[in-house]
Amino acid sequence: MDDQRPYSPGLKGVIAGETSLAFIDGAKGRLLYRGYPIGEVVEHGTYAQVCELLWTGEWPAHAELACAVLPRGVVEALRQLPATANAMDALRTGVAAWGAIEGIAYPPTPDQARRLTATSPSILAAFGRLREGREPIAPDPSLNLAAGFLYQLRGEKPDAAGAKALEAYFMVGAEHGFNASTFTARVITSTHSDMASAVAGAIGALKGPLHGGAPSEVVNQLHEMGSPEQAEAWIRGALDRGERLMGFGHRVYRAYDPRAAALRKVAEGLSSVADWLQTAVAVEEIALRVLKEYKPDYPIMTNVEYYAAAVLQGVGLPPNLFPSIFALGRHAGWTAHCIEQASADVLIRPDMRYVGPAERHLPVAAAGATAAH
Ligand code: CMC
Repeated sequence: MDDQRPYSPGLKGVIAGETSLAFIDGAKGRLLYRGYPIGEVVEHGTYAQVCELLWTGEWPAHAELACAVLPRGVVEALRQLPATANAMDALRTGVAAWGAIEGIAYPPTPDQARRLTATSPSILAAFGRLREGREPIAPDPSLNLAAGFLYQLRGEKPDAAGAKALEAYFMVGAEHGFNASTFTARVITSTHSDMASAVAGAIGALKGPLHGGAPSEVVNQLHEMGSPEQAEAWIRGALDRGERLMGFGHRVYRAYDPRAAALRKVAEGLSSVADWLQTAVAVEEIALRVLKEYKPDYPIMTNVEYYAAAVLQGVGLPPNLFPSIFALGRHAGWTAHCIEQASADVLIRPDMRYVGPAERHLPVAAAGATAAH
């Protein structure tokens, strides 16, 4: 019980693995995918190229990834869910059913990653329709993943600007080191469990509001504030009550999140969200100033979720799908981490510090010991 080993609650600051997937420079606000800066990737790449880069290490000149046809059993599993089910629960259920039906087994491979990453948008789109009493529709193989997801969700070809913005969002969210959901995926893979189990677990971890639930909360908070004029009082009130401002702060970044900067650019290209964006930019300025005043020694900057909210709204997607849409993009990173973890092949099993009672005895055993005397 007198354990003197270093202890870091929440594993903050602990290096618990090695990766060649993403380099995150929290102090300078830089994010590189296998060396390529996120800004360049979003400007010149596609999500399919990002996936291949993460899975294989190569940046292909061309890459294609279209939504997959769902096995009937997956659709049947989704039909069993109530229309009120959380979309993250539906996605997790669909992935779990897919893994069982397809017999996905260890070790994880790029081919499994391609198949799963292409299946999840179809799962989410199918649930999106089923919960509204509509039948799922077959994917269009000529569309990339982002456009194909929008098509399967709505039943009509998406406009080019919206599809491009969602594609950028997928790229920005593709990979981000040892965050809670990726850690979960790696722990599961480290036991030699399969990729579908790892991704189902990761979806569960991402469901929590401190990880993946923020963009819809950003929308709610901005809605509650009403206008930039009322924002400062609202923000001060929230911070005085010990609440957190959604879309701000990060475990790693002490500088402006480069993903937020990339997404803000994307949002600026979406006319559908122009007014909302103007409010968001004004509120961001106020929030950063007030946060600095409240936490002068702990830089809390804008994170990716703040502008994710703008992009997803601009594409016309409902807030209750935001976390699950983030999960679709993060499939690239989760599955790449499964592959990387399998090649490292080390069981992830940290220790805990015991803080419970010292050794003691059950009343029965204590009475027995007295009687024996
Ligand atoms: N609003 C108000 N206070 C904050 C915020 C915030 N957004 N973020 C951190 N703090 C305060 C926190 O209350 C704490 O204060 P005290 O020391 O007085 O208790 C201090 O800063 C340190 O907090 P922490 O939770 O130990 O720090 P962290 O850097 O590990 O927190 C975080 C990271 C993302 C959990 C946190 O910033 C947060 O809850 N943000 C709001 C939710 C959000 O936007 N999440 C999306 C994260 S980005 C997506 C991703 O990459 O996963």
